[in-house]
Amino acid sequence: MTSQAQTQLIDQEFRQQPGIWYFNHAAIGPWPRRTVQRVTELAQGSNTRIMANWLDWYAAEQRLRQRLGEILGAPDGSQISLTKNTSEGLSRIAAGLAWRDGDRVLLLSEEFSSNQWCWDRCTPDFVAVDQVKRQPGQPVHEALIEAAGPQTRLIAVSTVQYASGAALLLNELSEYCSERGILLVIDAIQSLGAFPLNVADCPVDAVACGSHKWLLSAEGVGFLYLSESLRQALRPTQAGWRMVSEPFKFAGALSEPANDGRSLEAGTLNTVGIVALEASLSLYQELGADTVERIIRGHTNRLLAGLTDLGLDVRTPADPAQHAGIVAFSLGDESATRSAYSTLTERGVCCAVRGGLLRLSPHYSTPAQHVDDVLNMLTELL
Ligand SMILES: Cc1ncc(COP(=O)(O)O)c(C=O)c1O
Repeated sequence: MTSQAQTQLIDQEFRQQPGIWYFNHAAIGPWPRRTVQRVTELAQGSNTRIMANWLDWYAAEQRLRQRLGEILGAPDGSQISLTKNTSEGLSRIAAGLAWRDGDRVLLLSEEFSSNQWCWDRCTPDFVAVDQVKRQPGQPVHEALIEAAGPQTRLIAVSTVQYASGAALLLNELSEYCSERGILLVIDAIQSLGAFPLNVADCPVDAVACGSHKWLLSAEGVGFLYLSESLRQALRPTQAGWRMVSEPFKFAGALSEPANDGRSLEAGTLNTVGIVALEASLSLYQELGADTVERIIRGHTNRLLAGLTDLGLDVRTPADPAQHAGIVAFSLGDESATRSAYSTLTERGVCCAVRGGLLRLSPHYSTPAQHVDDVLNMLTELL
């Protein structure tokens, strides 16, 4: 696709609302037009021809598994379990793993709360959870590797930290964990849909993700990718009719557990969410991961340079390998940062404050002019 065709497609798929500068994709992303259309068709069909449409929904589910597999480098999608959200995926591992006495889990203390709660609440009491504090400017993988010990059984980490925007050098951590037999569990919600993640190039044991942020889709649908060995080792923590080899054989003896990601899917899935995510992923694949990454990098590099020129205290690493779609900065102290947030919000800029920092998170649908507009608003405000 030519770059002109890409621009046209993006313009067709996203409606820019005058007076709104949307810089909050790290919280929730807008749906492309095609996603709105598919969900509308599903809703309208459900008003009349419910069972007649069922095969279309089922086909969308199969396409979704296939697309997720392609995006992750796990081609046939058989290692994908559809879930409600990231937290559910992480909790399945925390609650279902056969933990051994003395096992330790390692996390960063700055992780999003789900990635702390599930290890704290769903592992047995004898499992210790270590939370390491990263030093200012220290790369994420270095902080984790430095803190890992002989008893570390599992490391859980986000690809991008939700508050600072620090991105993980996944290759480095994947190599370290593989060499030591440490399980590596990735929370990908702050990068997938914006930046690629390929489990064939960079092996991990699990990827948990929801779809309402960078994947530009519905709340309440997500997925869990598991390596074959981790899937086999996990005890199911929920059970239902769908997780077997022949789910539509309702009577008689129970059939065998499904021999793929469906083995963790207990009952009826979120059809609305599945249809929405499948449609949003079709656009991502049509545009291409490289194009999406290139556009977002253009925005974040422009923001990082502009904020630095303004003399602001930018906390997102400048190294391109260590940032992604989030740019976070402080205006001195928390009250100055909150006051700038309020002013920007009043002027129509949708952004967030996380961890005491002002967080801007543009996507490929963000017009380049909006980046300059926000920098100009900040200039006026200082
Ligand atoms: C790193 C990270 N993980 C997970 C979530 C959300 O989890 P869930 O998909 O379970 O709602 C967020 C939301 O802000 C997040 O930033």
